[in-house]
Amino acid sequence: MSTHLYQMSSKLLVDTVGKVNDNLTSVFLAASVITLTLGYISKLLLRHDTDKDQKHPPFIPSSIPFLGHAIAFGKSPIEFLENAYEKYGPVFSFTMVGSTFTYLLGSEAATLMFNSKNEDLNAEDVYSRLTTPVFGKGVAYDVPNPIFLEQKKMLKTGLNMARFKEHVKIIEDETIEYFQRWGDSGEKNLFEALSELIILTASSCLHGKEIRSLLDEHVAQLYADLDGGFSHAAWLLPGWLPLPSFRKRDKAHREIKKIFFNVIQKRRQSGEKVDDILQTLIDATYKNGRGLNDDEIAGMLIGLLLAGQHTSSTTSAWLGFFLSRDKDLQERCYSEQKAVCGDHLPPLQLDQLKDLSLLERCLKETLRLRPPIMTMMRMARSPQTAAGFTIPVGHQVCVSPTVNHRLQDTWAERMEFNPDRYLSDNPAAGEKFAYVPFGAGRHRCIGENFAYVQIKTIWSTMLRMYEFDLVDGYFPTINYTTMIHTPHNPVIRYSRRRQ
Ligand code: HEM
Ligand SMILES: *[C@@H]1O[C@H](CO)[C@@H](O)[C@H](O)[C@H]1NC(C)=O
Repeated sequence: MSTHLYQMSSKLLVDTVGKVNDNLTSVFLAASVITLTLGYISKLLLRHDTDKDQKHPPFIPSSIPFLGHAIAFGKSPIEFLENAYEKYGPVFSFTMVGSTFTYLLGSEAATLMFNSKNEDLNAEDVYSRLTTPVFGKGVAYDVPNPIFLEQKKMLKTGLNMARFKEHVKIIEDETIEYFQRWGDSGEKNLFEALSELIILTASSCLHGKEIRSLLDEHVAQLYADLDGGFSHAAWLLPGWLPLPSFRKRDKAHREIKKIFFNVIQKRRQSGEKVDDILQTLIDATYKNGRGLNDDEIAGMLIGLLLAGQHTSSTTSAWLGFFLSRDKDLQERCYSEQKAVCGDHLPPLQLDQLKDLSLLERCLKETLRLRPPIMTMMRMARSPQTAAGFTIPVGHQVCVSPTVNHRLQDTWAERMEFNPDRYLSDNPAAGEKFAYVPFGAGRHRCIGENFAYVQIKTIWSTMLRMYEFDLVDGYFPTINYTTMIHTPHNPVIRYSRRRQ
């Protein structure tokens, strides 16, 4: 339904590519415009960068104009990157749809991105044209990074242990309520169900009870329209074009903001101090003493919801399929519920979640093999050095958690789903950026703890209710249509557990 903050810029890419057949003409047109413009700009910018001593990263040639490697990459991005790693090493460049991408693969090469300053490797340049129309002005990639960092700090204050205690109960109740519609047994689309459930839990926990109580089908449709703003059209085409999807996005944005403004104003006037994230934002101040205005608060609430939506729902769905493929493991997780919480399985508590260490390792392993954000991107605003190569201004510099998480040199039995690998010495432990599902450095995720609480609570509740199986042994292949790699045809078989 919705998408992760940072993901759009990349989603655009493969979206574009995935839909290349229906949209060939418009993509070509847009690509030519962009290529010509970028070509011109980069000539201007690169004039000072013609030093002959500087060696650019190896470049993967392509004979296809404009699209470049878009088709091969779109079909199977991980395979494409792994093959390039074999052939060219950890740093290489290639073009797609008129832009040049330079990937930094492996822990060592990734250091450049994670230690860089935002002025040098810039996030707004790649993410803002998609996120700003969705979240609105004044937040996230619309403001200078030091301000966004202050906003992240406010959000982080709101996501604290005392709140998580409440969240566990809220999430457990929402999950039990949601799955009543599944009955005793059957086959259902697990990814769809988890997407619907997570909108509800995230709205309860991150927005508060007033906004959650307003979440009906109309509001759900508004979120969907807003999410539709993260499209290849929004990435490639100028924002002033009167496209229907742009209009829908902008209308949804205005309507959602109006709903949020009402709630915020009521809260401000009531004088009642509810202990939740909305209250944290109402009370928060920047370092200079200024409080957040209603527009900023509403924008941050939209960002919070969308940031956790696709990421958490895809991760939860993949976790479900890994547990269904290995029934022994699923039974061990169920036994763990009883061992930690008691044979009668009373309502979950936050401190018990911490002791569900097998479930936790299963989640960690799911995030290794299926990290929802397969690429993080930055724009090189100044020449950058990696592995002895100089990356010129104008390249989109990328790090891929998915590739780092399965590098041959780093991980033993790299393709095996083995949650117990974290119990013993594993070679990846010595490499700082071998495991980065939540990123690192100044752009690192603030939602990691909440995501763990949310996903562990949902799956604890589901394991207590049902036993899960693959349908005729089918383990979903990966749907590469967007940069968030979802399960293809994600149907699961379930039957109620007898206690
Ligand atoms: C399984 C769940 C999640 C995963 C795998 C995930 C992953 C990531 C990654 C990889 C980044 C770094 C992006 C970059 O460097 O370009 C990031 C940043 C971020 N995430 Fe998450 N995320 C998850 C859930 C959440 C949730 C639930 C929230 C909010 C409650 C959230 C809020 C943010 C924010 C605010 C940033 C900062 C972006 C920046 O500073 O540029 N995320 N996340
Ligand atoms: C693959 O993903 C796209 C985009 O999210 C979706 O529209 C499509 O239905 C998915 N295909 C399958 C078979 O799951």
